Amino acid sequence: MPAFIGSIDQGTTSSRFLIFDERGTLIVQHQLEFPQHYPNPGWIEHDPADIIESVEVCIKKAIEKFIKKGYSVNDIKAIGITNQRETTLVWDKVTGKSLYNAIVWCDIRTHDLVHELNSKSPLGAEVLKELCGLPITTYFSALKLKWLLDNDSKVKEAHDKGTLMFGNVDTWLVWNLTGGCNGGLHITDVTNASRTMFMDIKKLEWNEELIKYFGVKSDCLPRICSSSEVYGQVKTIESIKGIPIAGILGDQQAALVGQKCFHHGETKNTYGTGCFMLFNTGTDIVISKKGLLTTVGYKFGNEPTVYALEGSIAVAGSAIKWVRDNLGIIKEASEINDLASKVKDTGGVYFVTAFSGLFAPYWRDDARGCIVGITQFTNKSHIARATLEAACFQTKAILEAINSEFGFQLKSLKVDGGMTNSDLCMQIQADILGIDVDRPAMRETTALGAAMAAGHAVGVWESLEGLKTVNTQGRMLFSSQITKEESEQRYNVWKKAVERSLNWA
Ligand code: G3P
Repeated sequence: MPAFIGSIDQGTTSSRFLIFDERGTLIVQHQLEFPQHYPNPGWIEHDPADIIESVEVCIKKAIEKFIKKGYSVNDIKAIGITNQRETTLVWDKVTGKSLYNAIVWCDIRTHDLVHELNSKSPLGAEVLKELCGLPITTYFSALKLKWLLDNDSKVKEAHDKGTLMFGNVDTWLVWNLTGGCNGGLHITDVTNASRTMFMDIKKLEWNEELIKYFGVKSDCLPRICSSSEVYGQVKTIESIKGIPIAGILGDQQAALVGQKCFHHGETKNTYGTGCFMLFNTGTDIVISKKGLLTTVGYKFGNEPTVYALEGSIAVAGSAIKWVRDNLGIIKEASEINDLASKVKDTGGVYFVTAFSGLFAPYWRDDARGCIVGITQFTNKSHIARATLEAACFQTKAILEAINSEFGFQLKSLKVDGGMTNSDLCMQIQADILGIDVDRPAMRETTALGAAMAAGHAVGVWESLEGLKTVNTQGRMLFSSQITKEESEQRYNVWKKAVERSLNWA
């Protein structure tokens, strides 16, 4: 009997539905971009209805393709969900209607609140970090939910009368797919919960002290589950009705699983809208002194929790989108590779893409984007190349933080995500890091990771060891082609550009 697993991948700029077979081979997929809303500088919102609608369309279209290929929906054994993390949604449990647009993870409207909380109680911030693994920054859901309570009367009213439901995108999707107002499940998984600032990172439970600190009542929070178990069945989408939802992972944790970084020290870097490096720390909870985040890597059913250290970069693929939509020098994101290849280097141009401030290891929401080193000679190819280099240099800063946190040098880096389709970008990355960059042939590792979690829960893959053979064919290694001195020299100039960005405000 063939077995297939579906995977909903709800990202920052697009939604997808993908179907894999039991060898991890991608059979079909459908992807849809959806609108981004920028109501004020630094604000980024999504319409929660667009999120649901885009997911529904992707499922419908992918299922059509699947059936057209001669397969049967009855053979889809489970569905996994992976999602943009931290993005904050609020809705009313009686009406099922959202009470505000989703506030997206890279939105920096909570800037003043962050500064107020940090200056009021710097020591408190340290205690908080020990408890939840995260610093007080604009990034995490707790700040966004507090902002909503302080600034929107409808949200506050629902909160006070006990009808408010809070969730990240995983929670919003599961609640809607399992029935919404008619018995929908209000749940999240440990990886998503670990990004809220409400969860005790050791106990994997909502923490009273943290919840109180942000002025939130616990009845609006979802129930925390593992990343791999049967949560419930799809009820609201006809074409996949009755199929169990059996895996939930935040997208970066899903990529960690999809890249099979199951052992201590294994590391992956995903170049999506942002770029996120996760370093598996096994069952150890490491609180970073170098600006990295402590996060849950994954927890499969009752198996031990695996933790990770994360280096988060707010802007990677979104800079390419900006080059496409705001500069208009390319029509499709994929054209950046060819445009950047027309020149042998950036001609001395450096582009610090600090559109949402700078995340790890700096955590400076007042940093702003800057392009430095422009001369009469500079053309659009130099800008395109500097855009690719920006994600690569920021990755170097994260890698340095990881290396110095652990006192050893990482030897190779597993990569995935949209930007890794550019061979040029991956070569630049290897040059800048001076270590091998290891790219799989099938780069939908985020969706694959969620499928692996769901497949594991329903017995398609019995053990993590069994998953080791998934997606092993056709990997490509990029090795540095420049000297260590050249690489260091370029990185030192980049650091000067970062200084400009940090000192702009
Ligand atoms: O933490 C934000 C992250 O989950 C967003 O991922 O793939 O949309 O860049 P992505």
